[in-house]
Amino acid sequence: MIELKIENLKAFIKNYFTVIDKNVYDKWHMFLPENCIVMSGGESIKNFDSVKILIGELVKKGFNKNDRIAAIGGGALLDLVGFVASIYMRGIEWVNVPTTLVSMVDSSIGGKTAINFSKEDGISFKNLVGSFHVPKKTFFCFKFLESLNQSEIKNGWGEIIKTALLDRNIFDLVNVFGKKNMIQTSVCEQLIDIIKACVRFKNEIIKKDLLDTEIRKFLNLGHTIGHGLESAYGFSHGVCIAKGIELEYKILGDIKKDIKNWIYDRTSILCEGVFEFGIDIERVLTAMMMDKKNEDGLLNFVVLKDIGAAEMIKITREEFQNRWKNIV
Ligand SMILES: NC(=O)c1ccc[n+]([C@@H]2O[C@H](COP(=O)([O-])OP(=O)(O)OC[C@H]3O[C@@H](n4cnc5c(N)ncnc54)[C@H](O)[C@@H]3O)[C@@H](O)[C@H]2O)c1
Repeated sequence: MIELKIENLKAFIKNYFTVIDKNVYDKWHMFLPENCIVMSGGESIKNFDSVKILIGELVKKGFNKNDRIAAIGGGALLDLVGFVASIYMRGIEWVNVPTTLVSMVDSSIGGKTAINFSKEDGISFKNLVGSFHVPKKTFFCFKFLESLNQSEIKNGWGEIIKTALLDRNIFDLVNVFGKKNMIQTSVCEQLIDIIKACVRFKNEIIKKDLLDTEIRKFLNLGHTIGHGLESAYGFSHGVCIAKGIELEYKILGDIKKDIKNWIYDRTSILCEGVFEFGIDIERVLTAMMMDKKNEDGLLNFVVLKDIGAAEMIKITREEFQNRWKNIV
């Protein structure tokens, strides 16, 4: 993690061909390189059409194996550009600059890249096509956070809450921060300390298990249902993860009441106004059945046991349906 003042960013990426999220460019272009591609940000760019557009640009520029690419934007743009960097000429160097809270605390770290895949009937599967391609460097300019609206801040808190449940130190920091402050758009030192702690935590996990075969899997807390909700309803990532955490402990969990309350107090703030309808679990299950974590046709979940302690469990679709009936 390299922390930079936004004024210095251009100098650090001057030798990179840069792809920038449009919302970021619109607000911060005075600090960004002029020679760049600007792409609209958001989940809808994570598809093969965007891959084709980007590769077309690289070919037009005569890009070869030694050329390098920088991505400046939210998690969606970083996932897309990282994926292109991983497949162009079997992989070129890339660096990333996260500009949302989600991308700072999570997606910029660890080299997972991905696009989504939509079937002809319109059902979309999250991150079905992807690769591991670790960025050479990740530059953090906290100034970017100042232009996020409240819903993007809430999204980031979905991932922060997940990380807090997996790490006692971050749990304590989040506790001190207070649940009401989670929806503030002002950026304070305490929030920056929480971001840095999340980055350190994820880096430690990645060092031990980059390829997601052991402990990295625990970072999927809330993600089995979360990704299902995101695919089925198209709501934002972080909010779906927050709802996923809440539903997963209700369906599968065996945790102390005070932890349940702690989670619910926070996820209900983050999800307010989003899931105010009966969730069609069959629709969500269709997406969950294509989850990359599934093995032998079984759904795979990370189940929280205590703060900082989780385990993996596998259950059948039918068992999940039965447990769902008990909570609705
Ligand atoms: N690769 C990983 O390990 C990993 C981890 C977590 C999430 N993700 C992925 O990240 C994506 C979610 O990321 P996200 O929450 O950043 O969403 P996003 O990239 O869709 O960005 C959300 C919105 O914020 C805008 N935006 C970005 N920066 C801004 C800024 N500074 N000011 C104003 N607007 C800004 C974007 O244009 C977009 O409209 C999902 O696709 C998810 O799957 C990947």
